[in-house]
This record gives sequence, structure tokens and C-alpha cells, in this order.
Amino acid sequence: MRIDPHSWASSSQPRTTSLDWKATVDFGTRVLRGEVTLHLASAAPADGPLDLDTRELTIDAVTGSDGPLPFTLHEADPILGSRLEVQLPAGETQVRVRYRTSPSASALQWLAPKMTLGGKQPYLFSQCQAIHARSVLPCQDTPAFRVTYQAELMVPARLRAVMAAQHLGREERDDVAFERFSMPQPIPPYLFAFAVGELASKDLSPRTRVWTEPGQLDAAAWEFAGVEAMMEAAERLFGPYDWERFDLLVMPPSFPYGGMENPRLTFLTPALLAGDRSLVNVVAHELAHSWTGNLVTNANAEHFWLNEGFTVWAERHILEALEGPQLAGLHAAIGFKELQGAFQRFEKRPQLTRLRTQLSGVDPDEAFSLVPYEKGYLFLKTLEAAAGKERFEAMLKRWLHERRFGVATTDDFLAHVEAQLPGVLAQARAAEWVDAPGLPDNHPTPRSTRLDAVTALVGKVPEPAQVAHWTPAEWQLFLDAFPRPASAEVCRTLDERFTLAHAKNPEVKVAFLTLACESGLGQPYAGPVEEVVSHLGRMKYLRPLYQALAGHPETKAGAKALFEKCRAGYHPIAQHVIAQLLAKA
Ligand code: BES
Ligand code: ZN
Repeated sequence: MRIDPHSWASSSQPRTTSLDWKATVDFGTRVLRGEVTLHLASAAPADGPLDLDTRELTIDAVTGSDGPLPFTLHEADPILGSRLEVQLPAGETQVRVRYRTSPSASALQWLAPKMTLGGKQPYLFSQCQAIHARSVLPCQDTPAFRVTYQAELMVPARLRAVMAAQHLGREERDDVAFERFSMPQPIPPYLFAFAVGELASKDLSPRTRVWTEPGQLDAAAWEFAGVEAMMEAAERLFGPYDWERFDLLVMPPSFPYGGMENPRLTFLTPALLAGDRSLVNVVAHELAHSWTGNLVTNANAEHFWLNEGFTVWAERHILEALEGPQLAGLHAAIGFKELQGAFQRFEKRPQLTRLRTQLSGVDPDEAFSLVPYEKGYLFLKTLEAAAGKERFEAMLKRWLHERRFGVATTDDFLAHVEAQLPGVLAQARAAEWVDAPGLPDNHPTPRSTRLDAVTALVGKVPEPAQVAHWTPAEWQLFLDAFPRPASAEVCRTLDERFTLAHAKNPEVKVAFLTLACESGLGQPYAGPVEEVVSHLGRMKYLRPLYQALAGHPETKAGAKALFEKCRAGYHPIAQHVIAQLLAKA
């Protein structure tokens, strides 16, 4: 039986418990030549088919313990990819597949040297969440099946390979290097991750270091110097950190997310290097996933809020512990504003604004929004208020402990809350939160004095003295909340007074440019817009800018032309998402 709308994996077939992966990284052809051995749990009587997920893979050979096995590579489904059906003899406990990836593999971005900071060496990185691991290796690509792994990458000797795993060693032979890794803790396949490039590292504490290209290593070490303090705050909230190391990898600018919680090695966009530590909440977020998401994992994408809603809750608690309630409150207010935007975007698909979703036939990258993040956060705050802070935190700690290295569905969590805190679900109207679209009317609303000061000025052009103490978070909130359309005159004055179209902080810059583009002023700001979308591939920035440009007749054609100009520099996931967005506009 299928257990995940986004995988061919079946509960009635053997399951992979660990895998060995070897791959040669060929920058010349942009292909990984790989061999993977899947070790199967022998519980099932075997003798029958094993369905694996693949996308754009060329399969060269499939073998079992006693030689070649018959297999069929089925026709590709546009969302799921191709089912690789292997016939297993009775009692078989392992399957080995020799294969090659496609140059357009959806998880992989191959960067030419000129797209890196150093400009001399090529770069390769993976992004497997939600369902892209299958474009890197054939596997049961569902979070319901956790695996441990061993890996060996063969790379040009002038480059380094890093993985979201333990590094076992590097061995050079002539002009190639073999880098070996092991992931002893079982992970869902979407947390499989690696990067190859010209990389250097600097220690931040005994259990954390930052990796990036040499040219920005010092800046990265400065920006993230507070990471050990964050880990300590998170451990107070959730209990001991279970993954030994928490290293950071600052990616090339085309990285499609702000951060990705790859275990032991979080991937981060270089846009966080604002020079003022104002964006470290993203690090707190990815760190929090070490518990919420990586330790207790959503069983499939329909329960994604269990990963992200919990993590936003934790992120803001960490932020509050380190920076105080005012800043955490501003972030909650920004989130609340962004949530309204997500409800608007899904006006015609309200089922995607439920916490528990139904995603058969839906591409998770296209269903992605801040709803599971911010509505999930508000639901947990509602439960927290109903139960009381201490009882709520004790319940959560227990949830994370009892389910360590496990998977969970929405119903599992609801049953846990009912058992631990009887009556709280009903009091909070949990059924409505989980299964109704939109926001129940018992939702909390973020409040703080700093927030009030910002709100009082929304819609006006402030005097410099009124905003002299504003942080980037306040600017972002002000701009997100500014009524649309703003006049050309207002945008120009705001920009002249406060240099917003060229703000150093990318959140502020994008918030301003989004305001301008949504107000139909894409043309006067075409320069700074192009600067953003040609340099940064973070979808959080690309989406609203392209959407706004495409939404106005005078900039619609320009949006498509701009995308054609920039698309080759985007990760395949971002290319696909923006192409779909423009096709629908
Ligand atoms: N796991 C997500 C990124 C992700 C989600 C990748 C879905 C692929 C599919 C990561 O933890 C995340 O939420 N990143 C946010 C951080 C923000 C909420 C602080 C981002 O990238 O903006
Ligand atoms: Zn997250």
C-alpha cells in the first residue's frame, strides 16, 4: 500500500534501513555516476516487487546478492518521477543500482566558476526537500522510511566535498580526491545533502564551524558568532542536542531557500550576511529543526506543519531568550502579515490553507507557502495559552523525546496532546485549526509597543527622527503593511529619505521593491529589481517580485523577459516554480 502521496514506496514491500552510496562528480558533463546499495529490512517475505523513486536517472544495472535482477523503469509522472520496479527473489536483503544522474537533475545545481564568489572553480550543491532526493539516487523517497548511510564522493582534488554527515576522511590520488562520510543517525531521505566547491572553514565553538568560499569566510564567521549561545538556548527549551555537530555552510547566492536544516550541516543563503547579525533568526530556525523536523519528522508533506509550525514556534522562543520579547514580537507580526498574503495567494485554492492538507496530484514545491509556518505557529500559541506555558512546554518536550528518530502525523500529535493535556484541544478548537481553511477567530494577534509605533506610521512617510531607532525588522514590517497601491511620489520620497531600494538588508530591500512593484511602479525600479533577481535565487525574494511584475500589464512582458535572462542562474527548483508562476499569471 502507498503511504505517501509523493512516493511509490509501499508499506507491503521491504523497506530500506541503510544505504551505501558512491558517486563520481563529473563537472565536465554535469553528471553524477553513482552506485547505491540499499539494505532492506528482511521482515517482509520478499519475493515480489520493490518500487523505488527516481527522477531523470539512467539505470545501468540492478543486482541482488546473487547477480542481476529484472527491473522496469516506468514512464515518468510529472510530479513523482519514474517508478523503478525491481523484482526481488525470496529472502533478498540488498539491491544495488548503478546509474547516472541527468544534467538537469531537479535537486542539483551545477555552477560554472563565474557564478561563484572566487570565480575560478566550479561548484555543485544539492537541495533534496521535498521530493528531489530521487533525482540524485534511486530510493524510497518518503520521510516515513528513515535511513542511515555511508557515502564516498570522488571529486577533483582541487575541490572539497562536504556532506550533512560525519566526515570520515579524505584521500587524494593524482588529481582526484575521495571524501568519505557516514550518517549514523537515521534520517528521512529529504535530509540527504552535499556540496562540492572551493570551501574553507572556521571554528565558532568546539561543536560548530562555518564553511564557505574563502572570500567571505571572515564575514560569515562574524555574522554567526552567536551560534553556540543559540544552541544553549535551544537545549534549555528542548533537551540535549542529538547530532553532535552543528556546522553551517554559506551557499552561493543561487541557493533557493533562506536556510535548509540538513543535519549536522545547515545550508544558508549568503543573503544572511547583512553585516549586522539582523538575519540570524534563520539560523535559530534551522537549528530548531534539529529537534522539530529532523528528530521528529512529518510522515509526508500533508503534515508539513508539524515540521515548520513547530520550528517557527521554537525559533521565536530562542529569539526571545536571546534578544527579548520585543524583537520576537516583531518577527511574529511580520509573520502574521505574511500569512495574510499567503491566504490571498491561495484565495482560489482554500484547501491549501488548512494545516493538514491533501496533496495527491499536487507538487509540494507549488503548494509551498507560509501557511504551515505561521498558521502552525499561531495554533501552537493557542494551545500554549490554553494549557499554560509550563504544561505546554513539558508536553512538547515529551513529544520530542518519545518520538526521537521517528515520524508523526497530525493525528499522532493530536492524540499526544489529548493524552497529556486533556481538554486543551477542545478548548483551543483544534479541529477547526487543523482542518478548516483560513484562520479561526480565536487566533492570537501579535502585540508589542515597538509594533504599535510602527503601525502608527504605516501609510505615511515618516520623519527621520521618528524612525532613527528602527531595526531592519521594523522597516520590513512597515513596508509589508504599507497600503497598496502606494503613489510614485510616496515611494520616491521613502527611497530618497531612507535608501530603501538599495538597502543593505535584503529583506528590507525586497519589501520595498515588492511594495513598489505591487503598486505598478516596476518600471522606475527596474534597475534595483534586476539587481536582486539576477543575483539572488532565494525563492522568498523571487516569488513576490515576479508575481507583482506579472500582475501589472505594463511590467508583465518585462517580467517574462527578465526571467528568461536570469533563469539559467537559478536552481532547477526555482526555475520550475517561477516558470509555473509566470505561466499562470
Ligand atoms: N525546510 C525549510 C526549507 C524548505 C521547505 C525546503 C520546503 C524545501 C521545501 C527551511 O527550514 C525553512 O523553513 N527555511 C526558511 C527559513 C525561515 C522560515 C526563517 C526560508 O528558507 O526562508
Ligand atoms: Zn523550516
